[in-house]
Amino acid sequence: MLKVSGHPLLREKLTRLRDERTPPRDFRALVAEIATLLLYEATADLPLADHEVRTPLAPYRGSRLAEQVGLVPVLRAGIGMVEAALALIPEAQVWHIGLFRDERTLRPIEYYNRLPAGATAQVCLVLDPMLATGGSAVATIDILKRWGAKRVKYVGIIAAPEGVAALSAAHPAVPIHIAALDERLNEKGYILPGLGDAGDRQFGTG
Ligand code: PRP
Ligand code: URA
Repeated sequence: MLKVSGHPLLREKLTRLRDERTPPRDFRALVAEIATLLLYEATADLPLADHEVRTPLAPYRGSRLAEQVGLVPVLRAGIGMVEAALALIPEAQVWHIGLFRDERTLRPIEYYNRLPAGATAQVCLVLDPMLATGGSAVATIDILKRWGAKRVKYVGIIAAPEGVAALSAAHPAVPIHIAALDERLNEKGYILPGLGDAGDRQFGTG
């Protein structure tokens, strides 16, 4: 399932995110704001359990999330989406996975993995702004599946059609939530029009 959000606030924020004049400080703020809006939509089907509380006046039969959520930011660029996700789901666990793309082959290289010993969440949200060839997303979800993750959702910001096709083929049950589906990849594997290198633009390393 591919869900490209058409929300006007996302369209406006995404335009500022793409703008080459946007400095890292504003870029990071926009990544977080966009992540909040996307996560609001991506979590719309999380199951609830009954949860009773007392207001100052009366008992109230309310709700809480029925499942433990695991947030899986893909380093480096996914870091910018974590605080936004934790603000929405403060009880979530955070499991970091470090991948970078080999510049020549464009294949992902794993350099960090901080998953707990056993699968302790019922739903995992993979956070990574850019879905280009799809190699990093497929590798991340391969790792999660081997580890025992049952339900996985991918939350990105910009995707290329090539990345959506690769991720859908490898993991057809994983819904893909993004803010924009762009035109294509260039010869270096960058998304066009895209926004450039999401890690470099967040952390000023370009
Ligand atoms: C970027 C991005 C994704 C990956 C997407 O990370 O954050 O993880 O590229 O490309 P793919 O779909 O072709 O795998 P990058 O490898 O640039 O590392 P960085 O976040 O550390 O800069
Ligand atoms: N990674 C990025 O950060 N940007 C792209 O366009 C492709 C991969």
